[in-house]
Amino acid sequence: MNFSYDFIVIGAGVAGLRAAIGLNQHGSVLCLAKRELSESNTQYAQGGIAVALSPDDSPEIHLRDTLAAGAGLVDEDVARILVTEGPQRVLELLDWGARFDRDDAGKLAFTREGAHSRNRVLHADGDSTGREIGRTLTQYARDLGGIHFSDFGFARDLLLQDGRVVGVEILYDDGRIETVTARAVLLATGGAGMVFANTTNPEVATADGPAMALRAGAELSDMEFLQFHPTALYVENAPRFLLSEALRGEGAYLRNSARERFMPNYHELAELASRDVVARAIHRELEISTAAEPMVYLDVTHLKAENLKVRFPRIYKTLQQHGLDITRDLIPIRPAAHYIMGGVRTDLNARTSLPGLYAAGEAACTGVHGGNRLASNSLLEGLVFGARAARAMVEEIGPEKIDSASTRSSALVYGDGDDEALRSETQQLMWSNVGIVRDAERLCEAVERLKKISALLPAPTSRQRAEARNIAESGLAIARSALARLESRGSHYRSDFPNRDDANFRKHSILRCESVRFE
Ligand code: FAD
Ligand code: SIN
Repeated sequence: MNFSYDFIVIGAGVAGLRAAIGLNQHGSVLCLAKRELSESNTQYAQGGIAVALSPDDSPEIHLRDTLAAGAGLVDEDVARILVTEGPQRVLELLDWGARFDRDDAGKLAFTREGAHSRNRVLHADGDSTGREIGRTLTQYARDLGGIHFSDFGFARDLLLQDGRVVGVEILYDDGRIETVTARAVLLATGGAGMVFANTTNPEVATADGPAMALRAGAELSDMEFLQFHPTALYVENAPRFLLSEALRGEGAYLRNSARERFMPNYHELAELASRDVVARAIHRELEISTAAEPMVYLDVTHLKAENLKVRFPRIYKTLQQHGLDITRDLIPIRPAAHYIMGGVRTDLNARTSLPGLYAAGEAACTGVHGGNRLASNSLLEGLVFGARAARAMVEEIGPEKIDSASTRSSALVYGDGDDEALRSETQQLMWSNVGIVRDAERLCEAVERLKKISALLPAPTSRQRAEARNIAESGLAIARSALARLESRGSHYRSDFPNRDDANFRKHSILRCESVRFE
């Protein structure tokens, strides 16, 4: 079947929803989600949304912290947009009914997270900020009435005509395929956590956006910068549930196998050092431990029990289900893949290198996070750049008449391997060879094996098969970019190049097809 819209938004997380709201009234809008509308990284965001709205804060201070966290690679003009337009976007969200937590006097309550110099993180229901933002945006978008939402609609590939993106091929769970053309398409497909064996991300985070864009010929940028969150639950057979950085913001300690606090030995900010520093310190503590089963724990037992239950209700209840009472027990943790700073390369207005294609949110790389994202800047990024994407899509709207016999962007050579086994091999390989500590030997091995895996993967005739392909192709993009960056910076750590090399690498990596360049 063939359909046509003015605008297609692929993704219903914070970026996609905010863009769809901006597009409403400017033409017909299709907003796709590959599972339930509520299943996204946005839905699981705990700590909060960073915004310079408290009396002792300012966009300039927020900018300073964002630049410092980004390890010399944040694009200052983009970050300035984030911190100056951020307050308007959050105030608008409050107008639309968002219920952020308030203090006893009814004022917005701000908390602190790692590498922030001010308390500037707004939260909702204690540790369910993303859920509240998603609820507010979905409700508001639905009330507008003009946006067509399609859940369980998996965007398999982009449609191209004369080098312009003109639509999307949609695969449904029953095997049905629809070709939908549009005058502008936005990728807001979220994160890439599922590329790795251990992740805080939900099942939907399979890096579909970057893989689709790459196949269509678009440029990706900074794919080597993958943030490993230091504190994910580490209990056998349990998901790597996130233990929010806000716990450390409220005073939690990290302890090693000997139950000793170790972060003061690694950084003056101790537990509140930036995530890359804390994740590597944990990695090191596990490496040097002489215990039979090395462990690292998060400890909140010295904090007031009643406060913990009120401030972190979701964490408290979830850990109870795993037999842990956080007010009394140490919590076993390990780092896990959490957020990708890289993605589809865009300018300030979400334009990619392909006409007709835009990207926003975690799928995009605007350069705003550089080598390391400041905690809680990504929900804000979704709001700010989702809104800007909508404006650009309206201003530059493409031709009305699109030939529906357009070509698909995907390669047509497939193997006959077992997609489930190859997916799981990719995830293990990415974790062991392209994880927290990297080197040339293991990166080369990963690149070579991922090339073979990509060739073995079968045709994407189901969502699962298409996701396995996207995981492998995005994994290969991450490994290739990590191999090309011969230095350590932010979240990218090379044991064979342990120092930062500003002279040669204070640049973004840009990947197109198979080659990486630095600009
Ligand atoms: P998402 O919210 O991930 O939405 C992606 C959407 O795209 C989904 O609707 C999905 O169905 C759809 N999609 C994907 N692929 C396809 C496809 N092929 N076809 C159709 N639809 C598709 N950030 C903060 O700022 N503060 C926090 O406190 C915070 N906590 C976090 C906690 C956790 C556990 C996690 C995982 C992340 C957290 N983050 C936090 C990061 C933040 O949540 C994400 O970066 C942000 O929500 C991404 O929003 P998005 O709109 O780009 O994508
Ligand atoms: C957290 O709550 O620790 C996650 C915050 C983030 O990823 O920005």
